[in-house]
Amino acid sequence: MKRALGVCYYPEHWPEEQWADDAARMAKLGLSWVRIGEFAWSRIEPAPGSFDWSWLDRAIDSLGRAGLKVVLGTPTATPPRWMLTKHPDMLAVDHDGRPRGFGSRRHYCFSHRPYRAECARIVTALAERYGQNRYVAAWQTDNEYGCHDTTLSYSPAALHAFRDWLAQRYQSPQALNRAWGNVFWSMEYASFDEIGLPNLTVTEANPAHVMAFRRFASDEVAGFNRLQTEIIRRHSPAPIAHNYMGQITDFDHFATGADLDIASWDTYPLGFLSDRLPATPEHRRRFVRQGDPDFQAFHHDLYRAVGAMRSGRSASGGRWWVMEQQPGPVNWAPWNPDPLPGMARLWAWEAFAHGAEAVCYFRWRQAPFAQEQMHAGLLRPDSVAAPAYAEAESVARELAEMPDVSTARADAALVFDYASAWAWETQPQGRDFSYFRLVFETYRGLRRLGLNIDILPPDTADLSAYRLVLAPGVATLSAEFLNALASHKGIALIGPRSNAKTDEFATPVPLPPNLPGLAAVVARVESLPPDVPVALAQGGSFLHWREMVETGAEVVEACADGWPALIRARGLHYLAGWPDEAALNRILLAACHAAGIETDPLPEGLRRRDSATHRFLFNYNAVPVEWDGETIPAAGVWWSPL
Ligand code: GAL
Repeated sequence: MKRALGVCYYPEHWPEEQWADDAARMAKLGLSWVRIGEFAWSRIEPAPGSFDWSWLDRAIDSLGRAGLKVVLGTPTATPPRWMLTKHPDMLAVDHDGRPRGFGSRRHYCFSHRPYRAECARIVTALAERYGQNRYVAAWQTDNEYGCHDTTLSYSPAALHAFRDWLAQRYQSPQALNRAWGNVFWSMEYASFDEIGLPNLTVTEANPAHVMAFRRFASDEVAGFNRLQTEIIRRHSPAPIAHNYMGQITDFDHFATGADLDIASWDTYPLGFLSDRLPATPEHRRRFVRQGDPDFQAFHHDLYRAVGAMRSGRSASGGRWWVMEQQPGPVNWAPWNPDPLPGMARLWAWEAFAHGAEAVCYFRWRQAPFAQEQMHAGLLRPDSVAAPAYAEAESVARELAEMPDVSTARADAALVFDYASAWAWETQPQGRDFSYFRLVFETYRGLRRLGLNIDILPPDTADLSAYRLVLAPGVATLSAEFLNALASHKGIALIGPRSNAKTDEFATPVPLPPNLPGLAAVVARVESLPPDVPVALAQGGSFLHWREMVETGAEVVEACADGWPALIRARGLHYLAGWPDEAALNRILLAACHAAGIETDPLPEGLRRRDSATHRFLFNYNAVPVEWDGETIPAAGVWWSPL
């Protein structure tokens, strides 16, 4: 398959006289895709029921005639002001019970059924009009589900839908009481109508109640999305995508992905490093203009797996894109540095090396008005090329010259489970216990060794393709995964804190980890402040979390105080704590060795990715790096055919 570049464009922001010029310039730059429409509801339907299609017809036409393929977004992330007059109770309500007002975007509650009906109406109108349009070659549903903390809503609509959801799941209040352990603190219910949302309780709500609400909220996102995909599919043969985000775990992307042909995500490496990634001040300084060397790759691999959900392809072969790529400084992070020259090219190539079909820069021209006037585009507000323009041009030229990059299979696989993120947010036990961070650090450890990694959904039933499988922090291991583990011939590394809860968020008895063929019991656990490490006998330590394991299995590593740190039976290992960098590195090296996977420990900030056809090296450092007889320039990419 040929990989391609694209851009996000808002024709409604610019005078119509400019459209043809813009389109011609995009085509000349070497772009193939242009995403439009996702915030344009107030222009498509200026008043309830009265549509103005003419401008959008002409915009699509002028882009299409320039040779561009259009990704058409459904505008449901930005309902117009009249919608609120029509449905005053459609707003999401925050944890403190306050409605979230109009004046920006995403001002809707996923559970509000009349708003869903409005979405069905606009999506039907859009799909009827453009479903057969020869220039509309893909769709995007809504925009960034969950952005601005919008997955959870404590509205009357959510309460109503939650009670329905509970009634379906549990069938009777008695069954729910038993499942949640409501005898504790006299929390028993006599009817589903008595059950509230788990906010505004005096002290913490029952974690089983919170988990049920998190599962419900995630299902609401999937249901909201499915409503749109079902309509679009009735009218259009074009593939459907949604643009996900970085480090957002509020809904199960695998579940939403099951209704989409393509997973895509919006990647803002400098914003992420400044805004959300846990990192030392030194790490932040070192990569301030380049972004974290593993954060983008992690999401590329994650969304490749999400992109496989509908087609049933393997996790390594899912369809995915970058729908929005940072081109220069953004506006929304605590600090918004200018990327080093080269990064807008490096980020794009890294995505292609991980199998992206397309990378679209956000946005074409910087807007001189409203919220994002400080956010760079490929063009400045005066239409002069910004620095990323020339880099996009290089990528387009290089892509045209290069044969297909082709995704490769990996030897190592890492499980990612959204429900575990909810579980450990609900009951962290230690203030800094973050599921995302635990998985991400493991991923980073594997990448530092030069590995290709596939990310797997938690119900993966066949592990036979992988020599090494890791599942840290999975709260409840699925029956499918446990079965697959029982017959897995390679090396598996499970834990810490894995299989530690039942489906209903109780502690299982017999006690965890309950892994096939591994005689071990987690007798108790402790969480620790970050400056209180538990030393390991072979060096390094456990941080944040450790488990006291009673076992008859082989002890591979022990803590300095004698408790087992790493145990195994055949290839199946259980890790009894959260390893620091030194310990993780040693444990992963040994696991790779046992699995017969070749490692290539890389210098800081240098990363490697093999596609089926090429080896790529990405230098996230601000200085050149010598490696394997090659000099990789600062913020540079190197590749060679395999
Ligand atoms: C994304 C969003 C875009 C734009 C961009 C700015 O989260 O989808 O609409 O706001 O961020 O970086």
